[in-house]
Amino acid sequence: MSNRMWGGRFAEGPAAIMEEINASIGYDQKLYRQDIAGSKAHVRMLAAQQIVAGEDAQAIAHGLDTILSEIEAGKFEFSRALEDIHMNIEARLAELVGPAAGRLHTARSRNDQVATDFRLWVRDTLDTLDEQLAGLQLALATKAEAHAGVVMPGFTHLQSAQPVTFGHHMLAYVEMIGRDRSRATDARKRMNECPLGAAALAGTSFPIDRHATAKALGFDRPAANSLDAVADRDFVLEALTTASIAAMHLSRLAEEIVIWCSAQFGFIKLSDKYTTGSSIMPQKQNPDAAELVRAKAGRVYGALMALLTVMKGLPLAYSKDMQEDKEQAFDALANLSLCIAAITGMVDDMEPNVKALKKAAGSGYSTATDLADWLVRVLGMPFRQAHHVTGTIVGIAADRGIELHKVPLEDMQAVDAGITEDVYSVLSVDKSVKSRVSYGGTAPVNVRKQARRWLKQLSREPEAK
Ligand code: ARG
Repeated sequence: MSNRMWGGRFAEGPAAIMEEINASIGYDQKLYRQDIAGSKAHVRMLAAQQIVAGEDAQAIAHGLDTILSEIEAGKFEFSRALEDIHMNIEARLAELVGPAAGRLHTARSRNDQVATDFRLWVRDTLDTLDEQLAGLQLALATKAEAHAGVVMPGFTHLQSAQPVTFGHHMLAYVEMIGRDRSRATDARKRMNECPLGAAALAGTSFPIDRHATAKALGFDRPAANSLDAVADRDFVLEALTTASIAAMHLSRLAEEIVIWCSAQFGFIKLSDKYTTGSSIMPQKQNPDAAELVRAKAGRVYGALMALLTVMKGLPLAYSKDMQEDKEQAFDALANLSLCIAAITGMVDDMEPNVKALKKAAGSGYSTATDLADWLVRVLGMPFRQAHHVTGTIVGIAADRGIELHKVPLEDMQAVDAGITEDVYSVLSVDKSVKSRVSYGGTAPVNVRKQARRWLKQLSREPEAK
């Protein structure tokens, strides 16, 4: 049977394999709500512009509402022969309202239709992700405030570097997620232009009102160039770029959770809620959720790479290649949403092991920089020389297998005669973090202040749960 949407030109139906490669209904049915909203805005505008009679427009709008409830009730039968969500809905509309249904597609094409539907979906999904990210920030900032003064090792190269506080570490992620959110806000602004009315590629000769449809769908304005409106998918790419960076951030936090809850580190305790056991080793409590968050960044990047590759080299305007924009984007953004939910749960759930953190904070001569700074501040030594003197003292401690504050004064004085008893006042980890009061530094007073600033800011956002 030839296709009823374009059957005029076709004598035969498609080969089975053609139907299989061509159909997108298996995944683009996700866009039914946006498709129906777009159609309703379009037909209302057609009636207002007297392009379609009022009663036909009403019948169409009513039919679209019926279809919406059929789909939501799970009573709609999607057909692969009808290829995609747009034709599935239009075919059902014809069954419901008869020949008037055929007037809906006046001054419109599936090209501007799909571009509109997908923009709406991506925009609304970014909004949801942003809300979720605000929830994660809230969980992190809450932990930060509660543990503003808990010392832990700060690392570079995963080697003990200088003591920091647990709260400071949590707030580092709050900042990163804050930038992810601002990227989402930015992308949203750019994508919020309405393609509807660009028609196939060149616009239309009907006296449509693109400003009205744009407004009805919550867009800021109609897209200014009809070719661009139907040909670009940079809005999806920006969403996936933003998602990739956010997934990378979550993956780093997940990796830290994995390391921290190992027996060797023992920095945090995760409850049974986000861990699994082993079928053979009874002692195990594996951080599977964190591992999966770490892993899923891969599929988010994959979706970005796939779509960048699909789009490169496509001549303007629409090509069917662009149908490949949806499936992986759906998958990537759904998985990112899952990752945010899981990591937020883990952050809420984790309890820092204060004793182990403090012990680890003092190991690896983590206050060596404080010793060097003392030599500069009190003895007026140039920093490079202080670095050298400190290195020699660290060498003594390492030879004897003792911590820095356990090195006797005489031994320090043998390295530099000017060193006094006062030096011990900077060698404890608590003193070390307390002294880091420079703006953005790890001192507990700073951390408390920053945590409260974030908590206040987040509580002002209506969406932060
Ligand atoms: N299912 C198609 C897509 O997702 C809709 C647009 C089809 N347009 C066309 N000219 N064949 O891209």
